[in-house]
Amino acid sequence: MSDDPLPPPSPAPRTAAVIPAAGRGVRLGPGAPKALRVLGGTPMLVHAVRAMAASRAVSLVVVVAPPDGAAEVKTLLDAHALPDRTDFLVVPGGETRQESVKLGLDALPPGYDIVLVHDAARPLVPVDTVDAVIEAVRDGAGAVVPALPLADTVKQVEPAAAPGDPEPVVATPDRSLLRAVQTPQGFDRATLVRAHGTVTDDVTDDASMVEQLGVTVVTVPGHEEAFKVTRPLDLVLAEAVLARRRLNDGF
Ligand code: C5P
Repeated sequence: MSDDPLPPPSPAPRTAAVIPAAGRGVRLGPGAPKALRVLGGTPMLVHAVRAMAASRAVSLVVVVAPPDGAAEVKTLLDAHALPDRTDFLVVPGGETRQESVKLGLDALPPGYDIVLVHDAARPLVPVDTVDAVIEAVRDGAGAVVPALPLADTVKQVEPAAAPGDPEPVVATPDRSLLRAVQTPQGFDRATLVRAHGTVTDDVTDDASMVEQLGVTVVTVPGHEEAFKVTRPLDLVLAEAVLARRRLNDGF
């Protein structure tokens, strides 16, 4: 038997979250930029930041603000209680979501090996979902997305020439093989940085960029409360979820 002491256990890789919040949110109608809309008395962006900071694994949150609104977002975060164990950075965003995420990644200091990308528009994601994503990356996945089965049947169409015209259906994909994916999406940092340095196509999520590198993306169970606040009805639903949480916390 060797007398060599066991090497110290390697520390858990550090996790940072990037929150792109530079969109105008036109589908919600006129008013404040979507991320600054108030839910239950608190701006949506503050909910989203708190949702990431709720995970004990997340020690840095980088918020990507509208290019002309970084100072305002910094003031907003300073004015709201956030956990002491988590650091915050605010950086100005870009023209597209993809550009905004890239600017957030560029601002990440060394030492964070796992990166979550979380839409400000998903303010109510539960901490268990955040932790499940981080756990799957720690277990070796290059990219992880929370996913839910679909309730609706999905049709692929030939887009109409003019808005409102009937659109011919060209296919009905097998619903049992489809998933609706949410955020936070979790990544091995080097893989995500490589994807953002390589893929130039327009994409709607970060995991699809990693797919284009040929790296396997895996799912973990998503959560219905991680829905994206997009249309006016979503604001009503978000208020209802918050009211239910307040009631449950009261008991
Ligand atoms: O427009 P969409 O709902 O897909 O936006 C998803 C997220 O990306 C939102 O949180 C939005 O603020 C962010 N975004 C961004 N920079 C842009 C456009 C969108 O950070 N230029």
